[in-house]
Amino acid sequence: VTNEISSPDRLHVAIIMDGNGRWAAHRGLPRPAGHRAGAAAVRRVVEAAPELGVGTLTLFAFSSDNWRRPGDEVAALMGLLRRYLRTELARLVDNGIRLMVMGRRDRLPDGLADDIAEAEQCSTRGARLDLRIAIDYSSRDAIANAVAGWRHGTPPQRDEFRRLLAGRGAGHDVDLLIRSGGEKRLSDFLLWESAYAELCFVDVLWPDFGGDDLATAIADFRRRERRFGGLCDVEHLTAAE
Ligand code: FPP
Repeated sequence: VTNEISSPDRLHVAIIMDGNGRWAAHRGLPRPAGHRAGAAAVRRVVEAAPELGVGTLTLFAFSSDNWRRPGDEVAALMGLLRRYLRTELARLVDNGIRLMVMGRRDRLPDGLADDIAEAEQCSTRGARLDLRIAIDYSSRDAIANAVAGWRHGTPPQRDEFRRLLAGRGAGHDVDLLIRSGGEKRLSDFLLWESAYAELCFVDVLWPDFGGDDLATAIADFRRRERRFGGLCDVEHLTAAE
């Protein structure tokens, strides 16, 4: 049994942050107002995560399919991401958070890729939490790109493939995948990395999501028995070897 899917002490939690638009609509506000409230929820969850045993938190901020949204909404989201990186950086560094961004950088608006590089650089010593933000990210594209490099050579072994997909900072696969907003879909997020993830779908709209919702999802996760296709969990198998 390799440890590629085993769950170490520090969990990898991934979140599809859905429901910003509906949150805004319920209040008669424009959709970007929902995304702004969503950014506040990001801050709450990032600050709660280390205490709850999370070592890696991967957030889906902008899918490659989100380019299909109206231009003003895309612009508002990109502006919000940029503001988040600029205004939160000092706080992230103070809190020992190492930030990494996944996804394509060549289609981002001017300046955002530079802000990303700076935030990654400044927070590189953070040891309490790896915060990975997926921007212009598609899991199928990431898999296709990883395969493309090997088209004419020996196919990659699983571990090599996993490292290639994960980029910096993803020590291990997703343990717990949470989606807010009531839908039950994966939406092209971390398809390979979530092969054995426990799935948690919650009705709470993302701007209403807080540290207590994360705590509830993790408590529920810790009660589940993970068997990884065997009859007992990997830690038991490893211990028996
Ligand atoms: C989905 O809600 C959410 C998004 C497309 C954007 C997520 C972005 C944030 C939470 C804010 C910025 C993030 C960071 C990291 C600062 P939706 O618009 O699809 O909601 P709906 O399903 O109710 O329409």
